[in-house]
Amino acid sequence: MAGPEQQAEFASLVRAVRDHVEAEIDVGATWFPVGPEPAPPSSQAAPRRERASVAPAAPAASRARESDAAAAASIDELIAALGDCQRCKLSGGRTHIVFGVGNPQADLMFVGEGPGRDEDLQAEPFVGRAGQLLTDIITKGMKLRREDVYIANVIKCRPPSNRNPEPDEIQSCMPFLRRQIDLIAPRVIVALGKFAAQTLLDKGTPITRMRGQWHELGGVKVMPTLHPAYLLRNPADKRLVWEDIKQVMSELGI
Ligand code: URA
Repeated sequence: MAGPEQQAEFASLVRAVRDHVEAEIDVGATWFPVGPEPAPPSSQAAPRRERASVAPAAPAASRARESDAAAAASIDELIAALGDCQRCKLSGGRTHIVFGVGNPQADLMFVGEGPGRDEDLQAEPFVGRAGQLLTDIITKGMKLRREDVYIANVIKCRPPSNRNPEPDEIQSCMPFLRRQIDLIAPRVIVALGKFAAQTLLDKGTPITRMRGQWHELGGVKVMPTLHPAYLLRNPADKRLVWEDIKQVMSELGI
């Protein structure tokens, strides 16, 4: 008869196997080999990931999301991998997934927080009042077309009553944003507002200290600036955003 310690060990083994199987199913496995996997020759290095991961070792389910996204070789494949996403609780309240729009080869990418009501209804980021202001910055300020840049958000589904995204929601969405950034490979990312800047750069620094300074994310230059929704409430601060945008234009030779 097994003692309590062996029972606990057995339960933990069952949990580990279940996590592993669920993770494999999430990434499309339909069968499982029986018997031990052959060990790689000791001289052979483990296969390299495409990019060094900045995240600490993730639990099995989130590793599965990571590989869903990482396997996509194009934006269309990434959209297909995202599918009718049910990976977090926001899926229940959304009308549409707001994946992102623009030129998939853009040099310049804007990343906001998450869709609001208009974006959820139209399946396009930054189409409400704050979006109009962002469009003005792009078209009237930078003299670019909206289609020349790429626009996305940290999370792709609208949180109820536009509340802040929660950590599990961000964790579910981040592999898709990371891959989106890898595939678009912009030269510059403008992080719109505290939430996008802190999430992308993994920093707790206030946006007022981060904005106007260049940061770096996996080889891409990141310029945090104030969120257009903030500017609607504080129009006097538009001049600060214009200073940041001028730095971006100079970096891109616009
Ligand atoms: N605010 C955001 O951060 N993103 C949108 O898409 C719209 C408003």
